[in-house]
Amino acid sequence: MCGISGVVGLKDISNALFETIRNLEYRGYDSCGVALLNKNSIVVKKNVGGVEEFYRKENVLRHKSSIGIAHTRWATHGRVTRENTHPHQSCDGKFAVVHNGIISNYRALKESLVRLGHRFESETDTEVIPHLLEENHRKLNNVEAAFVKTLCELEGTFAIAFVSTYHPGQIFCAKRESPLMLGIGDEIKFVGSDFNSFIDYTKNAVIIDDGEYAIVSRDSYMVKNYLTREEVAKPITKIEWDAETSKKGGFPHYMLKEIHEQPQTVTNALDVEDAVLDKVVEGIAQSGQGHLVGVGTTYYVAQFGQYMISSLAGQSLFAVSSDEFAALSNVGRDSFVLALSQSGETYDTLTAVKHAKSRGARTAAVVNVMGSSLSRLADNVVLQGSGPEICVISTKAALAQMVILVRIGLKLALRKNAMTAAAFDRSMSVLRDLPGIIQAVLNERSGFIHRIAHEYFKIKHWLYLGRGVYYPIALESALKMKEVAYVHAEGMPGGFLKHGTLAMIDKDIYSIVFIPPREEKALYEATLHSVEEIRARSGFVLGIHFDERGKNKNLFSEELILPNVSPLIAPLLQLVISQLFAYFTATSLKRDIDKPRSLAKSVTVG
Ligand code: F6R
Repeated sequence: MCGISGVVGLKDISNALFETIRNLEYRGYDSCGVALLNKNSIVVKKNVGGVEEFYRKENVLRHKSSIGIAHTRWATHGRVTRENTHPHQSCDGKFAVVHNGIISNYRALKESLVRLGHRFESETDTEVIPHLLEENHRKLNNVEAAFVKTLCELEGTFAIAFVSTYHPGQIFCAKRESPLMLGIGDEIKFVGSDFNSFIDYTKNAVIIDDGEYAIVSRDSYMVKNYLTREEVAKPITKIEWDAETSKKGGFPHYMLKEIHEQPQTVTNALDVEDAVLDKVVEGIAQSGQGHLVGVGTTYYVAQFGQYMISSLAGQSLFAVSSDEFAALSNVGRDSFVLALSQSGETYDTLTAVKHAKSRGARTAAVVNVMGSSLSRLADNVVLQGSGPEICVISTKAALAQMVILVRIGLKLALRKNAMTAAAFDRSMSVLRDLPGIIQAVLNERSGFIHRIAHEYFKIKHWLYLGRGVYYPIALESALKMKEVAYVHAEGMPGGFLKHGTLAMIDKDIYSIVFIPPREEKALYEATLHSVEEIRARSGFVLGIHFDERGKNKNLFSEELILPNVSPLIAPLLQLVISQLFAYFTATSLKRDIDKPRSLAKSVTVG
């Protein structure tokens, strides 16, 4: 839930440390801190606020050093205060530690450390680590041995990095279930929560696995297993993302940039090799029961996949929110679990996949971040290739996953003879038109969406309604509105209205209805019934539909008309529209678009 970075180099690294931690700000941004080694002492600067604000206020860049670690926090244990901000230090000031994850036995450890005379300054779980390092070093007189002993005493999850005055040229780090990697440059090395951190400096990375620790210096690095203490030979992973894609490129916000990148990310999803998807299709086809798991946005992506695969291939998969997976799903040896995750680091989804594997189920994952924990855990991996998604709110990655699920549905249909080869080819050519159609809609409709978002930005309650596959689109669209604009938005199947919710319709509740193209006759008419039910109670309806001839003029209070497209891609186009609607509503409300409150990019805690 936090970002950690470290840099050790030849000359002054303070600027590089600033850039690497700023690149991780999407992981958490309520407070920030650094520890720089200066001769034989450690300078720690920390405070509440975002990275740039903290650096400016504390004038951090005036402190020069050739080695340092940094942290950007998303509070889990302890309030957002200066004291709770990382790095945390040992009593003797010889160790400074940053940490991402949760130390679950910290209370017991803290009590025994306090009995030994250690003074604690924060409410965090992390602070036990520097004190344990100090205590173990006192006994063992060796930093590496003290580190290993400390790691074995910690329960819970962690990515840890620390510097110590005992070894002023080295960064020590370790991982258990929280992401950690090294960046390998010439005469400069990096430690980071992900590639984005150091991508401006090097594309050579070493991914640290669970149970490993590393000692990193300017010219070398060494990775060992902390249970066996044996050295592990680690391959260098070449980062394929280019640094420019991580920049805003003229857009005011990453969210808008990433919405506009969707023609490209859909193309990339269409370019994912057939052989990679065929393995997933085979897994589903041969399983007794298939499951789709994800959480937050990716749960809605899973629900979308459930509808699509059911309608295209006639096979029912269960979509389950990852956090409920163990409680709800009976998985066994004949189960197949397809997990969806942009980051590949989400705790709930990793836990669901581990649970499935422990029951003998076969697993696969659609992931955006190569080298992520999920991509290494699942039996088969589909890398969606959407490039870095920096805005905390997921847009392009989710849409690309939906496209991949449509492809899986089509392939499964073909494999099961539920579709002819000719129909499959026609559907694929419809999909291939999608990037161009999204581009045209972005070009031609953005202005109008901006206008209506600005007109209605003060509305406090929205109902988002859809039926069939448009229902998960309504859910995901409502989530975009909630998380970026902090406006109450509730996604619901249209059929639910008459089972209670109609009672809520009045002048204060506004509805957005996702209308299918006319050729989906039954669904189209059922959805229009929902519209009529609301209009009969004088409720406001914004209809997003495909009737270019404008036959519905009197039905909607406001309408957003899209070019008539195939039902295969219609819901995807509507999702793009509602991403923009949420974005423009949030800009009208002057929200912090790329770093909305209470949301972090990779939720690596349970
Ligand atoms: C919504 C959002 C979250 C994530 C969820 C899963 O915009 O960002 O709901 O979708 O935390 O994250 P991943 O896909 O990384 O597993």
